[in-house]
Amino acid sequence: MPVVASQTTSAREVAALIGPVTALPGPRYAGLARRVRELVLAGQLPAGTRLPAERDLATALATSRVTIASAYRVLREEGWARTRQGSGTVVEVPGGDASSAGWLPRDVPGVIDLAHAAPSAAPQLEPAYQQALRRLPAYTAGHGYAPGGLPELRAAIADRFTARGLPTDPDQVVVTSGVGDASAVVAEALLEPGDRVLVEHPSYPGALRLVESVGARLVPVPVDERRPDDLVEAAHLAAGQSGARMAVLIPDFTNPTGARLSAAGRRRLAATLWQQGVLTLVDESCAELHLDEGPLPPYAAGLPDAATVTVGGLAKPVWGGLRIGWLRTDAALAARLSAVLGRRQLSVGLLDQLAAITLVQDLDAVLTWRRDQLRTQRDALLDALAGRLPQWRVHPPSGGLSLWCALPPELSSAALVAGAAPRGVLLAEGRVFGTGRAFDDHLRLPFTRPVEELRAAVDVLASLAGTLGGGHPATPAPTVV
Ligand SMILES: Cc1ncc(COP(=O)(O)O)c(C=O)c1O
Repeated sequence: MPVVASQTTSAREVAALIGPVTALPGPRYAGLARRVRELVLAGQLPAGTRLPAERDLATALATSRVTIASAYRVLREEGWARTRQGSGTVVEVPGGDASSAGWLPRDVPGVIDLAHAAPSAAPQLEPAYQQALRRLPAYTAGHGYAPGGLPELRAAIADRFTARGLPTDPDQVVVTSGVGDASAVVAEALLEPGDRVLVEHPSYPGALRLVESVGARLVPVPVDERRPDDLVEAAHLAAGQSGARMAVLIPDFTNPTGARLSAAGRRRLAATLWQQGVLTLVDESCAELHLDEGPLPPYAAGLPDAATVTVGGLAKPVWGGLRIGWLRTDAALAARLSAVLGRRQLSVGLLDQLAAITLVQDLDAVLTWRRDQLRTQRDALLDALAGRLPQWRVHPPSGGLSLWCALPPELSSAALVAGAAPRGVLLAEGRVFGTGRAFDDHLRLPFTRPVEELRAAVDVLASLAGTLGGGHPATPAPTVV
């Protein structure tokens, strides 16, 4: 398989990801190879990344060049790297593809992908595309670009906000290629290097990396899924102390904890941050994935429109492969953000937008289906964990896509990730959800896969936990590869 080195990572960056080599268990070269594998599986060293030269990495990690050469050899032998004359050592995923950038293809037989909290497509997707195809001829005589979004889609999105209690006009909405794209435009347009940005801690890795990518500084505010409204006071204090310019918040079903601010909590938090001059980027990726209780007012309700930029999209309700998202703020700021977006891409794909019109108009039906599916899967995963791993502490979330499991003291999520991968279960280690080296004592388990896969994954985890410590005595795990 040809390897295209898509990205070179400096020795310092890779060393920072690896952490202290003295902390790696076993022979140093083997521990190092294992750590690189974990980083590839976690998406932090995407397939196609060129690893640093042996000498440079040895210096950055304060270890010998022989150790690095041996680690690279192990990675090559196991199919995790390839060395080419002139292009150095490039990370690969065994059986994967260099362009997958950390996202293993779903069709690897037998692999259970719990590294991503991303469900398969809702059944409404295909009919929506069929309808979009029927509508397409009405557009093909024109240029096909729709900067800011097709008017009909913007209107459908605005209507949905209005129905949820946040009155919105279409000119306050900009269509983007997903929620990540919408957040990136906000960061690009409104943040300067050195700005302080409040983030929930733990939080969605994409949000953390986005803030860092523009040179802004993360101000982590702890989230406790058992007491989600504690965030209000903590964020108030952190905003005052840090002089934060922006907050990136997921008020409904934070990824990974599933925490949800109460109606009163979000009202207080919104008011206090606004009074402190902090613009809030509200990520509503999972806002409508409430599984037990009903909807709560959107975070931005009751605030001046320019106090927030709310981003949302169809990836979680419908499918990640449908690259449709949006942002919503006041009309003047929306126009400015649309112009920034337009410098990068003239328009989101027209066929996707046409399908999205139908899907947004029919979102209630899509959500009813998705909630039923997620509720069943969440309950099955909670049951399996209670039966096989009762020492793991989990606060059942009332929505969203994932459980955030507190591991027993002797168990490391990095070790679980490394141990589960060869047994066909892909996981994301706790540390990707935090800053520094926090959260190796936690594991996120998305309930986005079918029940039988979730049960099989828990069997693998129980067996591993028995070996690594902190679980039931090991019982043979079913073969899932
Ligand atoms: C909180 C959160 N925001 C954004 C995204 C990315 O969404 P999209 O695929 O629409 O870019 C995700 C995906 O996991 C997410 O969990």
